[in-house]
Parts: sequence; structure tokens; C-alpha cells
Amino acid sequence: MQLAVIGTGYVGLVTGACLAELGHSVTCLDIDKGKIAALQAGEVPIFESGLEELLERNGDTGRIRFTTDYAAAIPGAEAVFVAVGTPSLATGHADLSQVTSAAAALAPHLDRGATVVMKSTVPVGTTRTMQATIQEARPDLAFEVASNPEFLRQGAAVDDFMHPDRIVIGTISERAEATMRRIYHPFVSTGVPMLFMRIEGAELVKYASNAFLAIKLAFVNEIADLCEQVGADIEDVTTGVGLDSRISNRFLAAGPGFGGSCLPKDTQALLHTSQVHGAPSRVVGAAVDANLGRRSGMARKVVTAAGGSLQGKQIAVLGLTFKANTDDLRESPAVDVVRALIGLGAKVRAFDPQGMGQARRILPDVDYASGTYEAIDGADVLVILTEWAEFATLDLARVRQALAEPVVVDLRNLYDPAEMAAAGFHYHSIGRPVATPSS
Ligand code: UDX
Repeated sequence: MQLAVIGTGYVGLVTGACLAELGHSVTCLDIDKGKIAALQAGEVPIFESGLEELLERNGDTGRIRFTTDYAAAIPGAEAVFVAVGTPSLATGHADLSQVTSAAAALAPHLDRGATVVMKSTVPVGTTRTMQATIQEARPDLAFEVASNPEFLRQGAAVDDFMHPDRIVIGTISERAEATMRRIYHPFVSTGVPMLFMRIEGAELVKYASNAFLAIKLAFVNEIADLCEQVGADIEDVTTGVGLDSRISNRFLAAGPGFGGSCLPKDTQALLHTSQVHGAPSRVVGAAVDANLGRRSGMARKVVTAAGGSLQGKQIAVLGLTFKANTDDLRESPAVDVVRALIGLGAKVRAFDPQGMGQARRILPDVDYASGTYEAIDGADVLVILTEWAEFATLDLARVRQALAEPVVVDLRNLYDPAEMAAAGFHYHSIGRPVATPSS
């Protein structure tokens, strides 16, 4: 099928590449000329496992192309995916200006019978508003709309797209339903559930899913705090809780709190929508508050580990991105924790495998090391903030030797407390008793 994807950000690019991989002929459009020129030259602007290979393979066969020209992308496309940015405004509203301008720009070129698919995460009602914008520009055109939310995790987005738990489609049009079934036929034929529902329902599935994940994490982090007070081990508790199949053991890792470009933004947007519609969500509000408060709580944990004050202390920070396997620092708990540490008088030397470029811009007061052990050298405390695999396999003897004081604060629970005690560390983690040197 001939398809178009508008927006070559994170969601648009992964969607375009994966649709091409499914065998479709895809034109990706962006109004950013620099971005398109780079993509045409084979450069991949984001760090996402497997994406480069997919773009190269499908670029070679001509199944994926890049353009800035609506007149080149839209005519002939049976479906046009809208995957533009919807950032949060200070008011809590989502900024929908990119959706509106994409709808206005694609309208003149849209074929009769084509389906415009909303892929961006948008507040309930936006897909219908987009439909109205296009219809206004083309009063005589018969076209369809559908909402098709994405559930992609950064760092695993290609894998998530190619192995979905479910495909959610919001449409009441039979023609749009048939189009969407053909697009996703390779998945449906392998038994992936494809759900059709009203547009508003599909829009809400995305927000409700992300809000539920946020609540799950905020809750498990509170239980971790309680574990520390009562002498329980959060790993035991989450194992026990997670074996209840109604709960599941996924998304139960306690840590410094959730961040990234989705969970914080989508919970805010859901809070806003629920307020506007007179059905306020107290539960989501509490999860958001708890998560934000957690960041200063993490800094206090470092203060305690350092003996009560960070004044003049040298802190080694490993990990700045909001989670491993991404270069993204948006809403990263690590960024807030580092700011708090500096505010409390510490000197921070940090290392992150992928996030240093962005970090230099937003955390100018940090000293950046070129590797893990350079960051650790001479530090009074080592703080682990992101669960990169290389931080879970440190040479503990070397770390012990490099640190001025043998104090480790592991906010991702990458190590076994007994192992850290045996290696001579004062080891502070999340929801587990503090371990002290056993030799
Ligand atoms: C999320 C959703 O998972 C995805 O379905 C949606 O489409 C976009 O938002 P993403 O933002 O890439 O994906 O991150 P995710 O892997 O879900 O992690 C979110 C945050 O929760 C991160 O800060 C992560 O460190 C934290 N997290 C996740 C935990 O602290 N513990 C966990 O067990 C899982």
C-alpha cells in the first residue's frame, strides 16, 4: 500500500520505518528541511535500537522516502499518518498547533477515500477536530479519519512496533476499518488483537494506559519507601506481588521515579482533560505529585549517605538519561537530582553513554567525564541514576580503589547489597536495607 507519514520525530520515524518493513511504500514528510536532508543522506537523528538498519534496508529497496513537499507525499497515499509533536503548554493543555497546521497542509492534496490516521498522542476530541479542519478546506471530499495510538517505549520502539500487544483503532467508518486491517494485516494474521472502537475511546486508551503505568510506578516507589522504614526488601515484595497474574511483575522496578517524554506529559494532559470534563482524576493527580516529590527525596538520600552534608563533596554520577538505551533527558529524574545535589553544595562529575550531548546544554555546571571510571575517580560518593547495562557490571575492586570514600547510592538497584558489603562499600539502594562493609 502507498502510505504517508507526517512528522519525522521519534514516533513518525519509527512508524514510517516499520510500515516500510511491513512491505508498504512509505513517504515520510517533515517541514524541517535540515532533518529531511539528513535523512535523505542516510543520517538517523535519534538513537533507537534497530532503527538505522531498518531505514537503510528499506531505503535501499526504495520502500521509504523523505520529503518536505506535501504535493509529493500525499497524492496516491491510501492512508496518511499524522505523527507531529504535541508538547505540553505551561497551562497543562497540549499544544496542538502542529496537528492543525499538518491538517491544513495535507488537505489540498488528499485523495478521495483516503484515511487520515492520528498517530500523535492527542487529547480526546482532537481527531474529530482535525477531521473538521480538513473537511472545511475540502468541503466536497469524501475521506475517513481514524485514531491509532502508539505504545512504543523509547529504546525498544522498533521491537514494540513489530511485536505489539494490541493494535487499537478508533473509527466508525467501514472503509477506514478495511484500510487499517490491510495496513496491519501481517500482525493480525499472526494473532495480534486488533481492536476497533469509537475515536474517543481509542484516544483515551493511550492516556489511560500511560496513566496506569505511572500510578503503578508511583505506588511501587511508595512501597519501597515503606520497606526502608520497616526493614523489608522491595525486591521480595515486588516478586511476591508481581506473581499475582492480575497485577503482573512488569513495570514494578522501584527507582528514582518516572520521567521521559510520555508518562509525565500524558498524566498532565489526562489530569487537564478530566478536570475540563468534570470527572477529575484524584488518583492520577496523587501519582504525579508523588513522582515529583520523589526527586528531592532522592537527593536527600545522597545527603544521608554522605554523612549529612554535601558541602564541598565530590559526587560521581552515572547516568543522566531518563532510563537506559535512550539519549533522551526530557523529564529525567537524574537531571533534577543532579541540580539538587549541586544546589546543596556538591561538585558533580558525570558520565552517560548517550546523553552527554543534551546534558551539556541543560546542566552546564556539571563536569563531564569521558568514561565511567574517570567520573568515579576521587569521588566521595558514587550515585547511579540510570540502569545502563555497563553500570550494572562495574569492576567493584576498581571502583573501591578509585573512590575517596567507599559510598555508593544505587537508585536503580543494580547490585546485590550483600555483594556490595563484601566488596567494602556502604551501599544505599531503593527499598532495601543499607549495607555496610562486611570486611
Ligand atoms: C512509555 C510507555 O511505556 C509507552 O508505552 C508509551 O508509548 C510512551 O511512554 P517510555 O517513555 O519510552 O514509554 O518509557 P518506559 O520504558 O515506559 O519508562 C518510563 C519511566 O518509568 C522511565 O523513567 C523508567 O525509568 C521508569 N520505570 C519504568 C521504572 O522506574 N520502573 C519500571 O519498572 C519501569
